[in-house]
Amino acid sequence: MSSARTGAPEELAGHQTRRAGPRPIFPNGPGYPRIIQAWLWLKKPIWFLDHCSRVYGDVFTMRLPLGTDLVHIARPELVKAVFGGDNDVLRAGEANATIIEPLVGPHSVLVLDGPEHLRQRKLILPAFHGDRMRAWESSVREITRAEIARWPVGQPFALRPSMQSITLDVIVRVVFGVDGSARRNELRRRILTLTAIGRNPFLLFATRDRRLGPHAPWARFIRARDALYAALTEEIRQRRHAPDLEQRSDVLSQLLLARDDEGRAMTDDEVRDELVTLLFAGHETTATALAWAFDLLLHDPRALGRLVAELDGGASEYLDATITETLRVRPVIAIVDRHVRHAVSIGGHTIPAGVIACPNIYLAQRRADLYRDPAAFRPDRFVGQVPPAFGWFPFGGGIRRCLGASFATFEMRIVLPEVLHAVTLRPASPRPARIRREAVTFVPHDGARCVVTARIQPAA
Ligand code: HEM
Repeated sequence: MSSARTGAPEELAGHQTRRAGPRPIFPNGPGYPRIIQAWLWLKKPIWFLDHCSRVYGDVFTMRLPLGTDLVHIARPELVKAVFGGDNDVLRAGEANATIIEPLVGPHSVLVLDGPEHLRQRKLILPAFHGDRMRAWESSVREITRAEIARWPVGQPFALRPSMQSITLDVIVRVVFGVDGSARRNELRRRILTLTAIGRNPFLLFATRDRRLGPHAPWARFIRARDALYAALTEEIRQRRHAPDLEQRSDVLSQLLLARDDEGRAMTDDEVRDELVTLLFAGHETTATALAWAFDLLLHDPRALGRLVAELDGGASEYLDATITETLRVRPVIAIVDRHVRHAVSIGGHTIPAGVIACPNIYLAQRRADLYRDPAAFRPDRFVGQVPPAFGWFPFGGGIRRCLGASFATFEMRIVLPEVLHAVTLRPASPRPARIRREAVTFVPHDGARCVVTARIQPAA
């Protein structure tokens, strides 16, 4: 949308395009060929982000193949402008859909924009209300204890897969509300098959063409996805007729009972797409955040000692500070995406239509003007302190803020103390894990390897 008089783009959330003076400029960025930038972004994302921020500052453009331009934004007031900006102009659903729609389906809250997005959000949100989540606490504890009981003593093992197993069980039990262990195992199997295929990076680039044959990654992905869809659809059909539907606390039952402003219920396809969304948005993200928390704590005996002492004394302030600091210094997701539909001006830069504006979580949360010694893990900085506005947003922001943020924190507040009460751990390597990209998440390169040195509570 351009102003007719100046030909300049319109304002964005208070960041007015100047009508006089120099024309705003498209943010600068590295001049390497697009294919090289794509390689760096996939393989050396931390180096690339640190480098760009050092050379180009708080707003810069990364140019990727197929004309994809990412404008990274790491200054809090500009992040605020993006999150508070016109959602019709800055479209998260459109940006997300490019990659994940084949997985989560066309009704997913992640890929919708405008009124359809708001409708799905309002239908889902009540299921994650604090009171409802309290009913899940004993299930989360039970699942965690069962997983800890499987850990070997004295042998190194990776914590992240173990955390994934916990968070997956939690989703199947409290989000899907699946009761029988045979049905749970069946669903787990289908989810794990799909996840394993989805990890193949070539899926992102492979031509989505079935003519490549039934063994090509894309065809295998579609088969595994459809098998999971079929199992979920069956679960939805059965649950609609469950005699105790109204008494149940799981998310699936809540979605079936939910009504929109016009009194309409969700269709089976809508419910299925939201279940797949909650599964893939919520399972590995929370597991990775937990793995990072352990990796950081085990390499910082002082912080670990203080946390254990406070938990033993029944306090939880340091636990909350540890979770906040983990999500700051090791954000699981480094950027969020907004597809720019019409040119906008942000902080004196023109952001033209067609690019992706990316509030950069990783860089904003490591600003030296907001955090002393920003790369260091220091939970103390959040004891009695709330994080700075738009300098801490591991769950994104605005009307797209993560729907599962309080659920993820709730899970972490249970799993961390359960582990620390049950076993003593030491890190398997002298240094904290390096940050490695896996699809869109930033994970510990070695899966957060550690050793159980003793069991405090006997294995159940
Ligand atoms: C530590 C764990 C998690 C992290 C770091 C995380 C992070 C994020 C981020 C960065 C976004 C994008 C927000 C934006 O575009 O502004 C997001 C969206 C979302 N997350 Fe999470 N998430 C986590 C756990 C969960 C869980 C447990 C669930 C549900 C079970 C969940 C469900 C969602 C959904 C449905 C959206 C889409 C919201 C929308 O588009 O309106 N997430 N999450």
